[in-house]
This record gives sequence, C-alpha cells and structure tokens, in this order.
Amino acid sequence: MAPWIALLLFVLGSAIAQQIYIPAAGTSARPQCTATPSYSQPTYSPYSTFAYSMTETVRTATSVQPGPTTTLGHGHRQSLRKCCVDRVMEVANPPNFTETSVFSTTVSPTPIPTSELVLPPPDYFGPTDCYYFPADFQFGVAGSAAQIEGATADEGKSPSLMDILIQDDRPKDYATNENYYYYKQEIERLASMGVKYYSFSLAWSRILPFALPGTPVNQQGLDHYSDLIDFVLEKGMIPVVTILHFDTPAQFFAANFSAAQAKPLIGYSNGGYQNETFVEAYVNYAKIVMTHYADRVPIWFTFNEPFIYAFNGLSVDHVIKAHAQVYHFYKESIKGTGKISLKFNDNFGVPRDPANPSDVYAADHFNSFQLGMFCHPIFLGLDYPESYKRTVPDYVPLNSEDLAYINGTADFLGIDPYTATVVSPPVMNSTDSILECCSNTSSTYFPYCVNQSTLTTTGWNIGYRSQSYVYIAPRYLRLYLSYLYNTFHSPIVITEFGFPVFAEAEKTALSDQLYDTPRSIYYLSYMTEVLKSIWEDGVPVVGAFAWSFADNWEFGDYGAHFGLQAVNRTTQARSYKKAFFDLVDFVSTRAMPQAQGGPWGIGK
Ligand SMILES: *[C@@H]1O[C@H](CO)[C@@H](O)[C@H](O)[C@H]1NC(C)=O
Ligand SMILES: *[C@@H]1O[C@H](CO)[C@@H](O)[C@H](O)[C@H]1NC(C)=O
Ligand SMILES: *[C@@H]1O[C@H](CO)[C@@H](O)[C@H](O)[C@H]1NC(C)=O
Ligand SMILES: *[C@@H]1O[C@H](CO)[C@@H](O)[C@H](O)[C@H]1NC(C)=O
Ligand SMILES: *[C@@H]1O[C@H](CO)[C@@H](O)[C@H](O)[C@H]1NC(C)=O
Ligand SMILES: *[C@@H]1O[C@H](CO)[C@@H](O)[C@H](O)[C@H]1NC(C)=O
Ligand SMILES: *[C@@H]1O[C@H](CO)[C@@H](O)[C@H](O)[C@H]1NC(C)=O
Ligand SMILES: *[C@@H]1O[C@H](CO)[C@@H](O)[C@H](O)[C@H]1NC(C)=O
Repeated sequence: MAPWIALLLFVLGSAIAQQIYIPAAGTSARPQCTATPSYSQPTYSPYSTFAYSMTETVRTATSVQPGPTTTLGHGHRQSLRKCCVDRVMEVANPPNFTETSVFSTTVSPTPIPTSELVLPPPDYFGPTDCYYFPADFQFGVAGSAAQIEGATADEGKSPSLMDILIQDDRPKDYATNENYYYYKQEIERLASMGVKYYSFSLAWSRILPFALPGTPVNQQGLDHYSDLIDFVLEKGMIPVVTILHFDTPAQFFAANFSAAQAKPLIGYSNGGYQNETFVEAYVNYAKIVMTHYADRVPIWFTFNEPFIYAFNGLSVDHVIKAHAQVYHFYKESIKGTGKISLKFNDNFGVPRDPANPSDVYAADHFNSFQLGMFCHPIFLGLDYPESYKRTVPDYVPLNSEDLAYINGTADFLGIDPYTATVVSPPVMNSTDSILECCSNTSSTYFPYCVNQSTLTTTGWNIGYRSQSYVYIAPRYLRLYLSYLYNTFHSPIVITEFGFPVFAEAEKTALSDQLYDTPRSIYYLSYMTEVLKSIWEDGVPVVGAFAWSFADNWEFGDYGAHFGLQAVNRTTQARSYKKAFFDLVDFVSTRAMPQAQGGPWGIGK
C-alpha cells in the first residue's frame, strides 16, 4: 500500500469514528419561537456599499433632573453639645483621615454631563420576556456607611466595630469612597441614571459617639444625615434607611480587640448584640433617628443581616426584641405610616439532588436555620424552628407574651439573595449526621451542619463564578422567592443583590473594568426571574436594590468589586459601568405604560 493511501484510509477511518455529543433529552426548548419556520434556505441580499459606521451603535442619554418631592418640616431636635474623644478612640486609633483623603469638606454637586451618559452597546444575547414591573415596584441601589463614608474620626464620630475589625497586615485604609463629603455628587450621579430609591445606613457612632442612652447626641452627625436625606428628596428620589449595618459602636466590646474578634457560635463576626446594655442602647438610638428623620424616610430597616454578626443565642434574642420595640415605637408612638423590616441573608440552599430526601432535608435545615430564627417569631408569631433550637444551646426561649409582642412586626421580608448554595448532609444520605452535628459545637460542619458546595450532581458549578462567594444562579432565585413567600407569608423586597466580576480589580485599564458583561448577565437574568416570580408565580416581590452603586470597602480591602460604578482610589472619580446602563435600561423598558413620567417610570 502506498503511504498516501494508508494516510487517506486513516483520515477516513477517524472521521467515521468521531464522537459527537447528542443531548440525551433532545435539544433545548425555545418556547418563544414558532414551532416550524416557513423557510429552509436564507435569501441572500445583493451586494451594497460597506461602511464601518455600520459596526457601531451610538445611543446617548441626557441627564434629566427630576423635580423635588414633598419635603415635610424637620422633626424636633434635641439640644446637644459637642463630644470629645474617649478611650475607644485611643484603642481604635483611627487613621487621620485628612492625611489620606481627597476631600475634607462637602463637595458641591454638579450636573452629570451628557458625555458621561453615552450608552454602551447592548450585549448580543439578552432577555426575551414580555413582562412589565408593577407601577409601585421599588427599584433602587444600596450601600452602607462603613463601606463608603470614610471620615471615620471626623466631625465627632467615635470608632465602631469596623475600626477594630481588621487586625491583620492590611492597611487601615478607611478613606473608602469618601461619601461622607462626596454624598451630594454621589446622589446626583444616581439621580441622573434614573435610580428611584437610595438605600443607605446610619453610623450609630456618628450620632451617639458615647453610644448609650443619656449620652450627648452629636449635632454634626445628626445634621449630616438630615442634609443627605433632604438632598435625596430634592433629586426626586426616595430615601431608605438601615439603622445598623454591622458598625456597632466599639463601646459594646469595651474597646477590646480580642473580644471583638472572638469567634462567634453562630455568625462570622461578633456584632456585640449580646452585650447586656445593647437592647436599651439600640432602641434609644433608633428612637432618636426616627424622631428626626421619620417625617422624610418612608422605609426603614432595623438590622442588616443579623445572622452574620450574631455571636450566640443571646444576640438573636436581643436583635428580635430590639427590633420589635422599634417597630412598636414607630407604628404606635410616633404613628409612622411607612414600612419597617430587617434585611436577612441566606444564599438559598438547594438540595444537591432534589430527588434525594436526605438532600432535601439538608437544604431545608440550612434555610430554616438561617432565616427561621428571626422569621418564625417576627412573621408568624411562632417559636424558633427546631433547626435553631437544636443547634444553639444557649438560645433564649420565647414565651407567649414575647411572641404576641413580636408577631407581625415587619411589613415585608427583606432578603439579600446573592447566590444559591448546593446543600447535602455532611455524611452522604444521612439525616442523622445533621442532628449529630447540631448537638456538637466542635463539629467541623457546625453551625450549618450541612455540606455546602458550588458543585451540582453533574460536577458543574452552579453558575458563573465571581471574585467572591457569588455565582450567577438566577434559576434558583424564582424558586427562592416562592420559598420565602410560601414559608413566611409576607411580601418580599430584594434588599441587596450583586456580582463582583472575577478579577475586575486586576484590570488596569478603566475601559476594561467598565465593560462588565458578566454583571449585566447577573442583573438582567435575576430581574427576569423576578418578573416571572411576580407574573407567573404570583409572588409579591415589591422591590429590588442593587448592591452596590459603586465599588467599595469590602471589610478589609477593595478586591471584590460589587459596584455599578468604578471608583478611582487616587482621585475618587466615579465612572458608570456598562451593567448600570443595562440594568436601568431593563427596568425602564419594562415600566408600566401608565406609570411612565418618572425618571424611568418606576416607583412613582
Ligand atoms: C490630621 O492631619 C491634619 C493635616 O496633617 C492635621 O492638621 C490634623 O491636626 C491631624 N489631626 C489629628 C487628630 O491628628
Ligand atoms: C457592654 O457594653 C458596655 C457599654 O455599654 C461596656 O461598658 C461593657 O464592658 C460591655 N460588656 C462586655 C462584656 O463587653
Ligand atoms: C478582652 O477580651 C478577652 C476575650 O473576651 C478577655 O479574655 C480579656 O480579658 C479582655 N481584656 C480586657 C482588658 O478586658
Ligand atoms: C443516596 O441516595 C440516592 C437517592 O436516594 C441514591 O441514588 C444513591 O445511590 C445513594 N448514595 C449512597 C452513597 O447511598
Ligand atoms: C400572628 O399575627 C397574625 C396577624 O395578626 C395572626 O393571623 C396569627 O395568628 C398570629 N400568630 C400567632 C401564632 O398567633
Ligand atoms: C464532636 O466533634 C468533634 C470534631 O469532629 C469530635 O472530635 C468529637 O468527638 C465530637 N463529640 C461528640 C460528643 O460526638
Ligand atoms: C459535598 O458536596 C459536594 C457536591 O455536592 C461533593 O462533591 C462532596 O464530595 C461532598 N463532601 C462530602 C464530605 O460529602
Ligand atoms: C486613577 O486616576 C489617576 C490620576 O488621574 C490615573 O493616573 C489612573 O490611571 C487612574 N486609575 C484607573 C484605574 O483608571
């Protein structure tokens, strides 16, 4: 045989033996398409003139300044005196902000030039749904004081847990986004994009530098948030306030680093809620801020993700009881007409194999443990779930009087459903292994007592990975919203969701950071599932807040970029990312026709 014949036979033989994959259940369904196309061959156009301009789509927006909404008179102000530095200041030793910051006084806002509002080209693949958002849907963005404000020792603020939390080699770079001085321009930028709701948190140690009841209120701190709220209203937006977002004043740890860093039984960090003085002090602080701001703020959150900073059973008890007292004060004493809730965390546990009852049990345990400890009493008036009582040996029992007082003290359920978690028992196919772990606080899997993974039964990740724990897992969001609604019988607000694009911080060119297609996919797919949840499942999802409006301080560094805007750490300059336009475009395209007329027609 001539060598070329052997080669030919080899080539033919391998072509015949080629393996190709065929989906076992047939190709994917395309329900939006008509069943049989009426053509089989394309019709080609004749030649025409080629132009490079055809490759570019230019869409430009102009900044529309919304009119002011009604601003009522200020609440009464307490007479106050300036505060001085105390021991916590000495121990926390906050950096001299003036030396590291760009701004040292409030920046006057300037309108956003049209040149910053050049829309990016849309992604090739996009949502194909035909739904609208309900007219009163709350579309907003969220942030928190410690992650954006900076000025940690300016204008009378005393240290909080955030100033002593990081004790490793990382620099104490608390300049963060300098929002304390830059807030007007920040809000101006959000208003120009058409964001309707602005969710932020108050720094307790700015308002009460000594934290406790009877200690002086810091007028500068009080005025700062009052001005901020007024400016949000002036821009036609609606302020949403979280009273405590992780930055517990340092006094509750007796300014003791090791106490602050002690490993909690329940959460990741020690929020100090278990301190014997906490409930009274928190309620006092909440009453002060509500008395001053409730005339202008229609939506309140008492605590952010209390599970994450719960030290032990007493922490949980204190959070629930403090929350309930604040709810009753707001509704009954000052006759507040707005809404109050808490922001909860739980990256939805989904059973590794939904057909395996052990995996289903594990997922249910995982979700009920994280949410039920708060939501059973607050939303249902019921005792803690078994998952909690079995796990936390020092839990504080609730009596029927407690439950009657706590029941119904939230107007909706706030959830931060960033991603989903694949859950199975710690030992394969065993529900007993979960119960064994629950009763052993030194167990490897304690306190969740389940095997958490990102891998599904197929060995694939649950979704596209980010720079942190977040994976793009939109399909589970719809299931999750049904779970929440059907379990806790409450309307739902998605209080945070967002995606730190993998390695975004390592991209040296700003233009690369701004072209954040994975973030667009995240937001557009999640919002599409929200719409399906509303219209196909009948679940009252009444709002969604993107986390966050700008890259910020993620409890120690700036590595995980959660922002819809980039922040230049040298100049503090903000730049809109592509996903911000895509998200706003998604929402405005789906504004109910009769609701149009607002900046993007949503949330009028
Ligand atoms: C911080 O630094 C500024 C500028 O160097 C200085 O004027 C100020 O006194 C410093 N503040 C403190 C509390 O050391
Ligand atoms: C609790 O907080 C108070 C300040 O309100 C502090 O004096 C006390 O030492 C704290 N208790 C503990 C155990 O840290
Ligand atoms: C600080 O807290 C640790 C751990 O809770 C405790 O062992 C230590 O005695 C405390 N130090 C002071 C000075 O109170
Ligand atoms: C676990 O249960 C599933 C379904 O019930 C079964 O398919 C699997 O073989 C079991 N695995 C083990 C290790 O027993
Ligand atoms: C909690 O309050 C709701 C609404 O008032 C009521 O329907 C429910 O029965 C209460 N739960 C309990 C356990 O009493
Ligand atoms: C608790 O778990 C630890 C760690 O797995 C183990 O060493 C210990 O024996 C367990 N204790 C009990 C009582 O099972
Ligand atoms: C945990 O779950 C993952 C995937 O669901 C699996 O690959 C892993 O083997 C499990 N680990 C244990 C200890 O069972
Ligand atoms: C931040 O701003 C500085 C000063 O204008 C500039 O040199 C640097 O390239 C900017 N960084 C990024 C990532 O754009």
